[in-house]
Amino acid sequence: MNKRLLAALGAAAVALSLAACSGEGAGSGTDTANQAPTDLTIGVSMPTQTSERWIADGNSVKEKLTAKGYKVDLQYAGDDIPTQSQQVDQMITQGADVLIIAAIDGTALSSQLQAAADKKIPVISYDRLIRDSKNVDFYVSFDNYKVGVAQATALLVGLGVLNKDGSEGTAKGPLNVELFAGSLDDNNAHFFFDGAMDTLKPFIDKGTLVVKSKQTSIEQAATLRWQQETAQKRMEDLLTSSYNDGAKVAGVLSPYDGLSRGIITALQNAGYKGKMPVVTGQDAEIASVKLINDGVQSSTVFKDTRLLAEQAVTAAEAFLKKATPEANDTKTYDNGVKVVPSYLLPVETVYKDDIQKSLIDSGYWTADEVKAGQAK
Ligand code: GAL
Repeated sequence: MNKRLLAALGAAAVALSLAACSGEGAGSGTDTANQAPTDLTIGVSMPTQTSERWIADGNSVKEKLTAKGYKVDLQYAGDDIPTQSQQVDQMITQGADVLIIAAIDGTALSSQLQAAADKKIPVISYDRLIRDSKNVDFYVSFDNYKVGVAQATALLVGLGVLNKDGSEGTAKGPLNVELFAGSLDDNNAHFFFDGAMDTLKPFIDKGTLVVKSKQTSIEQAATLRWQQETAQKRMEDLLTSSYNDGAKVAGVLSPYDGLSRGIITALQNAGYKGKMPVVTGQDAEIASVKLINDGVQSSTVFKDTRLLAEQAVTAAEAFLKKATPEANDTKTYDNGVKVVPSYLLPVETVYKDDIQKSLIDSGYWTADEVKAGQAK
């Protein structure tokens, strides 16, 4: 089908759906329990397409909902907060019956959520907790504190300070490390950093690890919008300011594969090659899985987005049936206004040796994709 025809069909579909929902959207105020899936729409708002993981998340959620017959309105906001607000507003006016939202800024959607609540549209916070609003009905994510513990542990294992079984390794230090954190407006970034710092602090205190730049607070380590280029620039600056005396970086705590790739580029540009400093990660993004396979990045924390999508769909269906989704954590995620009932999934650390079993055998990536460093 040519592009023009596709565009025309798309426009016709939008016009039809607008006509169907003119005036008041259906919303969940209606009796969704007795409606067929084909009459129900789920709005799915994702932050950005610049990262493989959110593309995989969006696709998984959409596929699973579509397979059950639901209509899906999937939107990506290009990491722009006003765009996301506008997209969610539009989902509400166009009659979404449930919203699944991975927020860019966890505090920026309050007025949209109020509009959703006014129409009795349940809101599921996806992976990132939406903060400062009572109108968040459920949270699906991973155990984010444990992600941070896993990243710090992988750093210690990579450095040889610990063995994989948790016993003491042969490396005694002092070893120079630098610390990176995610975007401060993302609730997860704080959980990751807290988990990591609780794990690293004893080793910093006894001098096994040295943060040569002295930048140990989350504010100093943060990376706005989780941008790879920002992490690369900060790593370059750290190398210039703290390692111009010939000292070497032994390891870098990185909370996300995109940042890890920026950090690795900075290190390589500064002459690091061969056995690279130990760099951690998260999300098992294909470009990083290749780097791990090639011995360039040390590890990643694998969060199976297929399972997360599954949980989001399960929760959405429960709400549509006017039931309460099953939570497995009702204590941890206080969003500033209330504790949001959550379903948290486990995480897994992947080193080079684990790629086959955890990522290829499970069908997350194929061997060819790992080799190419690109999704097919
Ligand atoms: C976090 C998420 C991480 C990573 C990061 C950057 O909220 O939990 O897995 O994807 O955003 O996208």
